Amino acid sequence: MQKIIIVSLFIVGFTLLSYGAEKYDTTAFRTATKLCTPCHGTPFYQAKQIDDDDWEFYFNTPGKMEKIHTDKPKGLKALNSSMFKKRKNRLLKFFIANSKYSGAVNGCDANFCGTNH
Ligand code: HEC
Repeated sequence: MQKIIIVSLFIVGFTLLSYGAEKYDTTAFRTATKLCTPCHGTPFYQAKQIDDDDWEFYFNTPGKMEKIHTDKPKGLKALNSSMFKKRKNRLLKFFIANSKYSGAVNGCDANFCGTNH
């Protein structure tokens, strides 16, 4: 019995630790850095420009994003890349989690250190 309690505490502790280490989706962060940052600033900055409903709207209205970027060939290239298509849902979740009224504030880590642009 005691063993079971110790093992469960260990699992809970490990879960909490790994949760603390991953406060946001770093894959989505890196994808946005690669595809969108040259024009939109760091992914956290970009995410904060609009609210969660707007992110849903832009991502889930067919053709909307392409239309906005019509005269931005590099933007269109990013949107048409296989990387964007593969990670579109992760990016949307990331942007929503860090959107305008989300209250998300990100401190320093290996990917990001408090700068906005
Ligand atoms: C070549 C530069 C460029 C790249 C790369 C680019 N965008 Fe944009 N994007 C723009 C510009 C400029 C606008 C503003 C268009 C306007 O207001 O008419 C814009 C507007 C937007 C908007 C509308 C909301 C807003 O903030 O004005 C969204 C959403 C958006 N971009 C998402 C993305 C995402 C996601 C990526 C990466 C996959 C991306 N963009 C890559 C240039 C770019």
